[in-house]
Amino acid sequence: MSTKTKATHLYSSRIDLPETTRSKVAELLNETLAACLDLWTQTKQAHWNVKGKDFYQLHLLFDDVAAAVYEPIDMIAERATALGSIAHGTARNAAEHSFIKEYPDVSKMSEEDHLNALAERLAAFGKHLREGIKKCDEWEDQDTNDLYVEISREVDKKLWFIESHIQRKQ
Ligand SMILES: [Fe+2]
Repeated sequence: MSTKTKATHLYSSRIDLPETTRSKVAELLNETLAACLDLWTQTKQAHWNVKGKDFYQLHLLFDDVAAAVYEPIDMIAERATALGSIAHGTARNAAEHSFIKEYPDVSKMSEEDHLNALAERLAAFGKHLREGIKKCDEWEDQDTNDLYVEISREVDKKLWFIESHIQRKQ
């Protein structure tokens, strides 16, 4: 878990989860929020800048993936606030705290380079989400666990959409 996130401020709340749980989960949620915002902008970057003979198909596909990545941002942020913590959702915060590596220079990228770059990033995000499922289960916060299950299933699906363009038969 990133040591840089500052999500641990807690308001008092009547919610029946221990403060230690609320604090740990909120820190994890803020790590996810930063990565999700970052991944969304990177997917848009691919949507805008892809070039090649399949431009239009990939332009639409990347927008579909971007919409799927954007969808859970509000739920992630509001789970942190529902737990009595703070959502750190600015672009600067996302840039500072995201574990997703920066998107490459699009002026040098082929269609396949974009597909590989997005597959790599979606897979990294999916891995983080599955770790989140396990952590929330251990911390006995099944509501956040359920949120991570929902998001990871959709991320896996979009990874399939992307990888289907570049997978080869063994
Ligand atoms: Fe667009």
